Amino acid sequence: METRQAIWNRRSVRSFSQEPLEPALLRDLADAARQCPSAANLQPLEYVVVTEKKQRDELFGCLKWAAYTAPVGVPDEAHRPTAYIVVCVRQQDVAPTGSAFDVGAATMSILLLAHDQGVGSCWIRSINRPRAAKLLGLPEGIEVDSVIALGRPAVEAVAVDLEPGQQGKEVIRYWDDETGKHFVPKRSLVNMLHWQHHGGK
Ligand SMILES: Cc1cc2nc3c(=O)[nH]c(=O)nc-3n(C[C@H](O)[C@H](O)[C@H](O)COP(=O)(O)O)c2cc1C
Repeated sequence: METRQAIWNRRSVRSFSQEPLEPALLRDLADAARQCPSAANLQPLEYVVVTEKKQRDELFGCLKWAAYTAPVGVPDEAHRPTAYIVVCVRQQDVAPTGSAFDVGAATMSILLLAHDQGVGSCWIRSINRPRAAKLLGLPEGIEVDSVIALGRPAVEAVAVDLEPGQQGKEVIRYWDDETGKHFVPKRSLVNMLHWQHHGGK
């Protein structure tokens, strides 16, 4: 898949078919994250892969899904993620600028490679972190930042371009139609891109 296609077509997926993901693929996703830029090249991130059913169910219980469409948009029992990659931060190696940028770069790479491999994903940061850390048995000094839910997609998800006049906090709420298809409004480029000189529209 072309990079461009991956960037444009990736969407957050919150409904998954139940076929397991191959361990080699999950390993590859973490390896992709390892290639990312890192502040001062300190590389403070570690990745915990969760695939075992009982642990998946427990981790699911630590997460909040789909703020705009819950409870409908929350994966039901038959469509939960088949794997998770938990992005953790080794505190002793965090740069003075923090770890958020490293996490962003690493997570985005995982999401894009997952999409390239036909795997749906959802980046989750509404997490009961103490509960998740206990469940994963994380040692002192390693903290959970993000959870990436993964699995083969069971729904279609598309972006919808907003008109320049559509602004404010209401228009950006994503929604699902009666078939479960997911729609994600994206603000108009007109409202986001500002040229400092003539030559672009
Ligand atoms: C930092 C961050 C945190 C997020 N946390 C959650 C979350 O806790 N639960 C959830 O269901 N989605 C979460 N999302 C997914 C967003 O809702 C989603 O990216 C947004 O609606 C845009 O949709 P798209 O990813 O399909 O472009 C998060 C996304 C980001 C970037």
